[in-house]
Amino acid sequence: MKINKIDEKLLDYISQEKTSGEFLAKELGISRTAVWKRINKLKKYGYEIESSKSGYKLLKPDESLLPNNLKKILKTRFIGKEYIYFQEIDSTNNYAKNHPELKHGTVVLAENQIAGKGRKGRKWVSAPQKGLYFSIVLHPQIDVSQILKFSLTFPYAVKLALDKYVKNDIYIKFPNDLYMNNKKFAGILLESEIEGDQLTRVIVGIGINVNNDPEDFEGLEVPATSLKIEEGKTFNRAKTLADILKYVEDIYLQCLEGHMDIISKVNEILLWKGKTVKVKDNNSELTGILIGLDQSAGLRIMTEDGEKVIYSGDLTLRTN
Ligand code: ATP
Ligand code: BTN
Repeated sequence: MKINKIDEKLLDYISQEKTSGEFLAKELGISRTAVWKRINKLKKYGYEIESSKSGYKLLKPDESLLPNNLKKILKTRFIGKEYIYFQEIDSTNNYAKNHPELKHGTVVLAENQIAGKGRKGRKWVSAPQKGLYFSIVLHPQIDVSQILKFSLTFPYAVKLALDKYVKNDIYIKFPNDLYMNNKKFAGILLESEIEGDQLTRVIVGIGINVNNDPEDFEGLEVPATSLKIEEGKTFNRAKTLADILKYVEDIYLQCLEGHMDIISKVNEILLWKGKTVKVKDNNSELTGILIGLDQSAGLRIMTEDGEKVIYSGDLTLRTN
């Protein structure tokens, strides 16, 4: 079962006013029975549609992430202009990785991921229809030495986009998770392709718990939350997505053009600054006070043996 262009057109008509089956059949070039079948299909997808003798009407405003709806509200120049939507997929990052032909700025989104992933083969739990799970394909042409700094663009952009809607403070956990009230509500996975010393293609996978409920996080080892749980209201995912894509585009361009000191910006909202943390990387472990980011976006830790800078690893708060 898939939503196609005809369904999208049908939704457009019935979201504006009550529209007769006869009119829809004529405009869409299909039979009245085919219109009726499509309406039933849309209802199965969760659309609330009033059906009466005089026609069909979409009851709730269309907050779906379907292409026709997103296009209406998206204000970007290139991010999301090509938009690939799935009801279900293994992982949007995998899809983007396996499709090298995707253009700069393409967004791949899924309502459900059955093999959503984080770093090092870890899992990203994607409760269907509740969160935002998408990947942005970018062709940045920057030096590999800039990757860490460049990667800060994305959590920072997501934070700024969400700040408009939330009362709680949002923090960035090094290198690119988002936290609220000491719980993780979003994670970002960057997968890069490199030629020589240039970063040629990056897949920015963003997972955000938006309207997820507490039971969606059962069994996770990190304390997880969603915007709905922390803010006590449900969010319009389409509008949230459109805003995030706009911020990502603006900040990405500002950083590339050298108009933004992203390191200082992220330093201001870095999670656990001044706290004692542990950083684990493969076989090494380091404990110390988190000072902040250095000029290459490495993490400065004051240990008993003096200051150390780390560029990767798993960061946790020391509890004992
Ligand atoms: P951390 O484990 O500290 O979050 P990380 O941010 O680098 O590390 P990954 O190593 O990419 O994350 O692994 C994904 C992590 O996210 C796993 O620890 C997993 O428990 C957690 N996780 C999976 N799904 C969700 C979700 N929907 N919300 C919040 N956290 C999740
Ligand atoms: C993390 O927690 O550190 C990273 C999680 C990244 C999850 C997103 S959801 C969309 C994209 N597709 C995936 O399989 N992973 C990323």
